[in-house]
Amino acid sequence: MKIAFSAAVGADERAEWLQVLRAACPRHEWLEHWSPGQAVDVAVVANPQPGALQGLHGLRLVQSLWAGVERLLQDPTLPADVPLARMVDPAMNVAMAETAAWAVLSLHRGFFDYARQQRETRWRQLPQRRAGTVPVLVLGLGAMGRAVAARLAALGYPVSAWRRSAAVDVPLPGVQVLHGQAALAAALAGTEVLINLLPLTPDTRAILCAPLFARLPRGACVVNFARGGHLVEPDLLAALDGGHLRHALLDVFAAEPLATDHPFWTHPRVTVLPHVAALTDAHSACRVVAANLDRVERGELPWHLVDRGRGY
Ligand code: NAP
Ligand code: GLV
Repeated sequence: MKIAFSAAVGADERAEWLQVLRAACPRHEWLEHWSPGQAVDVAVVANPQPGALQGLHGLRLVQSLWAGVERLLQDPTLPADVPLARMVDPAMNVAMAETAAWAVLSLHRGFFDYARQQRETRWRQLPQRRAGTVPVLVLGLGAMGRAVAARLAALGYPVSAWRRSAAVDVPLPGVQVLHGQAALAAALAGTEVLINLLPLTPDTRAILCAPLFARLPRGACVVNFARGGHLVEPDLLAALDGGHLRHALLDVFAAEPLATDHPFWTHPRVTVLPHVAALTDAHSACRVVAANLDRVERGELPWHLVDRGRGY
């Protein structure tokens, strides 16, 4: 098959991706450039520039190397009738669970406070609480949310997880699964650490806002590992500065890279990560891509298709 590769990344990263993709899928012809109307079977993309796939003919699948596909879905030139698959990679899920474990342990045990104390050469022991007294709420119970909820429950935290549907699939021991606005409101009132792992859709945009923060108890912490568009930044700063929220851990931002003069960089109760909570692992992602290319070749439905109506 002919595969078009499009990625909004630097030249070195692009070359690296192509090398790993060609090695994982050597039977296919990988194209970096194409002319208008060129026949191509599949496009493999990493957060491409809007319009990047315009003019391709005969596409049977657009395969994203990213888990979140909101930018692709906002591209009016993305052919409406072509299936879109997103990246669901066990290695990425594990990476996200590790980052979440670090985040919750650090917030619960006060390690960000100790880092601040070190900068102030201050020796002060904080109370040491048990994990079982720190309730965590995960927004989103998809590939990432499930891995995170399971890891945190295994560490002894009381974990709830909120999803859109009432579907019951493989049970997660120690995780209370919630859906609906009333259940969310009730859970927020008893949450100490809130972790966002929702996809960015019209329903979830700006969900991390003043009314939601007001439902959290005083001293709660907010972790955003999903997308910057979920967060109303001035509302978060107001909730931190007013003393209602204790700490925010942010990996994703409305504008990335985060501007050098953004107040998050220097806020004493904000921890900034440069969108690294779960990077795509090229080697395992290429195996996921190879499996979907095989399915397209055999005329089967690809895995992990996005429901464009729902937006994820
Ligand atoms: P996913 O498998 O599509 O799961 C999405 C979850 O969110 C599902 O449980 C879904 O509910 C729930 N959901 C969607 N809309 C909702 C709504 N309106 N109300 C309540 N729940 C809703 O996605 P994923 O693979 O876990 O990834 C989640 C997001 O993480 C991605 O979209 C991306 O933005 C972000 N991400 C970030 C990084 C990073 O490094 N920071 C890396 C990878 C991904 P149902 O179960 O009922 O469908
Ligand atoms: C990263 O944020 C992804 O969506 O893969």
